[in-house]
Order: sequence, then C-alpha cells, then structure tokens
Amino acid sequence: MNKKLFLILLLTIFLVGQSTWGQSKPIYLNPKVATEKRVADLLARMTLREKLGQITQIESHRLMRDFWNKGPIDPAWLNKVVVRYGVGSILSGGDGAPTPNNIKEWVQFTNQIQRATLKTRLKIPVLYGIDAVHGHNNVIGATIYPFNLGLAATFNEELARKYASLTADEVAATGINWTFAPVLDVAVDPRWGRTHETLGEDPYLVSVLGVAQIDGFQRSKKVVACAKHFIGYSAPESGLDRHPAYITERDLYEIHLPPYYAAIKANVATVMINSGAVNDEPVHASKKLLNDLLRKKLGFNGLLVSDWEDVQKLVTYHQYAKSLDQALILAYNAGMDLNMVPMDVSVIDRLETLVRKKKIPIARINEAVKRILRLKFQLGLFERRIIDPKLAERIIGSQESKKLARTLAQQSIVLLRNQDNVLPLSKQTKSILVTGPSADSLSRLCGGWTINWQGADEAELSGQTVLEAIRKKVDSDSKITYFDQIHNANKLIQLAKAADQVVVVVGEKPYAEQEGDNPQLRLSLMEEKLLTTLQDNNISFVLVVVAGRPLILPKGREVADAVIWAFLPGTEGGNAIADVLFGDYNPSGRLPITFPSKAVKFPVAYYYRENQTVPLYDFGYGLSYTTFKYSNLRAPIKAKAGNPAEISVTVKNTGELMGEEVVLLYLQHNNKNITPLRKTLQGFKRVSLEPGEEKTVSFKITADQRKIFNVDKLQWVEEPGEITVKIGDLTRKILIE
Ligand code: BGC
Ligand code: BGC
Repeated sequence: MNKKLFLILLLTIFLVGQSTWGQSKPIYLNPKVATEKRVADLLARMTLREKLGQITQIESHRLMRDFWNKGPIDPAWLNKVVVRYGVGSILSGGDGAPTPNNIKEWVQFTNQIQRATLKTRLKIPVLYGIDAVHGHNNVIGATIYPFNLGLAATFNEELARKYASLTADEVAATGINWTFAPVLDVAVDPRWGRTHETLGEDPYLVSVLGVAQIDGFQRSKKVVACAKHFIGYSAPESGLDRHPAYITERDLYEIHLPPYYAAIKANVATVMINSGAVNDEPVHASKKLLNDLLRKKLGFNGLLVSDWEDVQKLVTYHQYAKSLDQALILAYNAGMDLNMVPMDVSVIDRLETLVRKKKIPIARINEAVKRILRLKFQLGLFERRIIDPKLAERIIGSQESKKLARTLAQQSIVLLRNQDNVLPLSKQTKSILVTGPSADSLSRLCGGWTINWQGADEAELSGQTVLEAIRKKVDSDSKITYFDQIHNANKLIQLAKAADQVVVVVGEKPYAEQEGDNPQLRLSLMEEKLLTTLQDNNISFVLVVVAGRPLILPKGREVADAVIWAFLPGTEGGNAIADVLFGDYNPSGRLPITFPSKAVKFPVAYYYRENQTVPLYDFGYGLSYTTFKYSNLRAPIKAKAGNPAEISVTVKNTGELMGEEVVLLYLQHNNKNITPLRKTLQGFKRVSLEPGEEKTVSFKITADQRKIFNVDKLQWVEEPGEITVKIGDLTRKILIE
C-alpha cells in the first residue's frame, strides 16, 4: 500500500469512529457540556409524548401491586408508568413508603424505578419527590426533628440551615432528590390544620428561616427545595384547610409575599401551588398569581408544581372548570409546569389531544419540559441515578442528627409561666406523678407527616418519651409514678396529693392537613377534664403542652403553676423537655405566633392594625430561668432614605444562671397617610450570656426593610417620615429624610 493511501485510510477510520461515537453518545449525555446545551439537545430529540410524560408526576402507590395497601412494586405498573408513559417524576405522599419500610428497602425502591428509566428510549431519570418536612420523616429509623413552628421558636438561623443540610444528605442517600419543603405560608390563623408546618406568623421570621432551610437543602446540589404553597394558602377565612381565602392587596404583598420573594432571591429551585382559592379564583387556574405575579413580578424561573390532584380539583372541588380537559388547559396556561396527578397516568393521553388541538401552546409545554430537565441535569441524575444503600444506612438516624434534633428541640421550648420559680424541678424530688396522654407517646411528640400521613404508630418510632426521659433524669431514689387512667378522677387526686410534684403532659394527637383544623383551639375534652380536675382540687402542677399551635386552656394564664410549650419536638423531644424541666437546659424559645385569649376573632397576628383583642401571650414571648436587662438602645436620629441604619443595644444577664436571649428588633411606621401594619419584626439575634455578662448586639436595617407597600402605586416605597425602633422595652425614633 502506498503511503498516501495508507494515510487516507487512517483518516477515514478516525472520522468514521468520531461520527459513530457522536451518535452513540449524544450531547445531552455528556456531563462536561453546559446544562443549557444539554437541555436544548435533549429537548430537540423528544417526541410530544415523551415531553408530556416529563411534565407529569405520579405517586408511588400507583406502582405497587396492592395499591393503597402498599406491597412490592408491580413490574407491569412500573413498566406502564415509567417506561410506556415515561413520567418525569414520582413522589411519595404522606403515606408513600416501600414495604417493608426500612432504609435498605427505600434505596432498592428508588433504584428499581431508576433502573426502569434506563429502558426508555432517551433514558431520562425520574425526579423523585417527598415531603421531608421535619427530617426524612417517611423513613422508619430516621431522626424526627421539631416541626417548623418549633424551629421558628428557636429564632436560630444557623441551626435551621444545618438541619436542612443534614436532612438533604439523608434524602439524597435514599435516591430522592426533591423535598416539598419548606412551607413558607405565613400562619395568620392558628385554627388552620397546618399551622405546625409553618414558621409562624411573622413574614420576616418566615423569610429568614425559610431561606436558611433552602440553602441547607440545596447546598449539596443533590436535593432541590420547594417553597410551598404559593400563595395565600394559610389564610382561609373559615380557618379550615383549603377553604377560600380573601386577601387584600396590601396583605398579599406585606404578609404573604415576602417569604416567597426571599426564597426566589435565594434560588429556590421549585415552587408548589396553593390548593385553595384566593379572592374567588383557584390559584391553580390563576394567570394573575402564577404568571403575572410569581413569574413576571417576582422573577421565578424554576419548576412550578401543582399540589396533590389539584388540576382535577378545579373540576371536582372548586367547580371552576367544566371538565378535566378544561382544567388542564387552565392550569398549564396559567403557568403550572408539573402536574402532581397523582394516580391516573392516562392524563397524558388527554394532554396529547389538547396540545395537538393547540389548546395549550407547544411553547408552554417546551418551557415546562426544559425546567424539569434542567433540574435533572443540575442534580447530576443522568450520571448518578443508582444509589448504594451503605451511605443511607450510615447517616440516617445518626448520632449527629439526634444531637442536632435535641439541640433544636431544647431551643424551641417556650417557658410561658413559672410561678414562684417552681421550675426547674430538683432531680432529688422524692416522688413525681407523671400523667396525661402525651406523657408516654413518641407519636404525639412527632405529629402527622411522620412515617404515615396522619402520624406514626408508637412501634414505628424510636427515641424517649417524656416519661422515659424524666425517669432517666432523676436520682435513683426518687420515685416516678405514671398514671394513665385519667378518667379515674378519684385515683388521680389521690396520687397527685401523695406526690411531691405533678407533671401533666397534654397536647394534640397527630394530624395532617384538614384533619388538623381546630376551630375552637381546644384540647380534647378528656384532657381539659384532667386539667380542671386538678385545678378544682387545688393541686399545683407543672404543665407541658405538646401541640402544633396555640391552644386555649381552661383558666388561661392561671392554668398551672408552670407551663412549658414544646410544640411538636420530634423523637428527641422527650429528652429536651426533661432537660428543661430539670434545669439541664435553660429555656430560650420565644413564641413565633400570637397566643389568643379567645377563639372568637381572627386574625390575631401581632401586626394587624385592626387587631384589638388582647392576646394571652404575645409574639416573641418566652421566659428564662435567668433574667435579662436591655439598655443603651442606639439609633441615628436621622437617616437618609436609601441608606442603611445601624442600631445597637446592650443586653445583660442579671440573674444567677447562664442563659440565651433572643433579641427582637421591631420597626413601627408613624406615617399618617396610610395605615401600615402595627409594627414589624426586622431583626433578631440569639445571644448567650453568663451570669452578670453583657453584650452589645448590632443590627443593620436596610432601606428595603423600611419600605411599605403602596397599594395605589402597587410598589414598595420608602416613605420619608418618622419610624420607631423597638427592642425589649426600649424605643428610639428615626427621622427618614
Ligand atoms: C400537600 C402538600 C404535599 C403534597 C404531597 C398535598 O396534599 O398539600 O403539602 O407536598 O400533598 O404529599
Ligand atoms: C396528602 C398525601 C397523602 C394523601 C392520602 C394527600 O392529600 O397530601 O401526601 O398521602 O392525601 O390520601
């Protein structure tokens, strides 16, 4: 062969090799290529059916042999849903778990689903979503953290971030890359059954702790967060879940929007839509709220997911759309990207007809598809869809997570009353009677969204109940009597009189969503009777309440000598409560929500201008075993509009014990030409102080934080004029020029 021919041959072999490589390894499968290029490449290869599959989400039960009774994955259903229909996302709802529910099985379960995706033409992995709302709470063996309302009571941004980061590691280790958290709805009505899932009633507090969670979830780049439920979900007029909300323009912007705005600025990857209706329009069909407000005004460009069955509910519940077809058209055209169907995959067939008939523009579909693909690329799912169970087994339920959960639970507990310093109790107390339905229950410490939608069976949880933790805490010769026959009043009185101390632990049984609505904010009759029996017989006792919301207790403030509010503290809650009861931890939690004195007038949140009822306990309230004194509040007399203002205050521990104080800074606008909110929180800091120690705490208040929403102009403005700064019992006036 002559030399020239040989070279030509070599070159040909090289070029052919190159181009076949190009065919077998498309651009979108190359992790070195930029995400946007991969998205464009993949989108160009997709058929309409494949696209519609991507924007559909199905619940895990639909893959199972026995449907609602769970059971192993059924290969035929797996094939239908994941391979034939090619759905882009699977979720586990509140009751969604493999059988048996253990760490290894979870990994096998998600792996089995991802393996099926390899049989599809384009091998697009599934994005798996779950409600990891207080830890990886669907998994037996996982540490259950305090619910958000308790987390809010810690006023601890750092711990909120750390909690979310540990949880994200656990979630990702089971092959799940999306958590439907955090809830960013502002709790303006404690009757609402999801109050415990919120970060309380203050928009600033919700924003700061919400963003901390988003950072924590997303920082590993293995999990994406979901800000939910956009918008107005927490404000049903009746106080009942998913009932209509009527929200003024000002409240929408000043109360409900700020956390979502903050989340979007913090790059939250996904947002979930509110199931309910706002001002007579179901949000799933609202172009005004989803397109004009969320997309255009707030600039959200991530994935917008529906809530559970909510496209269908436009027909069945809201009676807003005449047919499922019309509902699909409304929701997709309003801006929804992914439909949490969650059971009937044939919705894809319908959607195909609608798109072919141009009822939903293909551009809208492409935009939605791109958003879900983008996330899958960013999460590295194309490269890493099959998971090794070893990591999950090592980190889920780890000592580190338990320690953090205990610290969070400790900091979340609010001491509401402590007559004559009955608390802390002595570990040498000779005899203690412990009673009440929440005393020996882990399930009640954890609440709903724990293993099951409506809460866990005791056997599904591990940790210490309050009773067990008290037993561990006291000296060996003190006697703990546990009495659970609380309907037996005579015996109760007899035992209580014989004991040196009585600890009563009451609260709420687990619930989720509408099951948790509590229009009267009452305990169960049985629990109220327990309290009144003790009160009527002049028996003094310490009361611990394990509840996801404020409640109205018999005799109000005088209900007991000491009152500890523990929210829903999770599996380490028993230990944390005992730590506070016996003084191993000095309580530092502050109320993230107003405690009303009557359940007659709502809203009761502290900032409402028209609110005239005197609350039982105000937002921010909480006692300590030590005392703090504030002095030296410094603020400029004048500040230029647009410039930040430095404010500082000195806090001193004036008691005998080391303690932590949460310093809260409020602003009040004294302008007279509008009726602004009464005052609003604009800063908080947690400081730790030894007895006698003092520290100066500084805040920087930006011009943005001083803005008020101008309804006529539909924009945020900084009005010149006087504002008052309030910290503790001190105030200063600043003139904004
Ligand atoms: C809830 C959401 C949740 C979803 C999936 C809905 O009913 O409103 O908060 O993320 O179910 O479980
Ligand atoms: C919940 C799901 C739950 C389902 C049970 C939904 O509203 O959000 O997570 O599993 O109801 O029916």
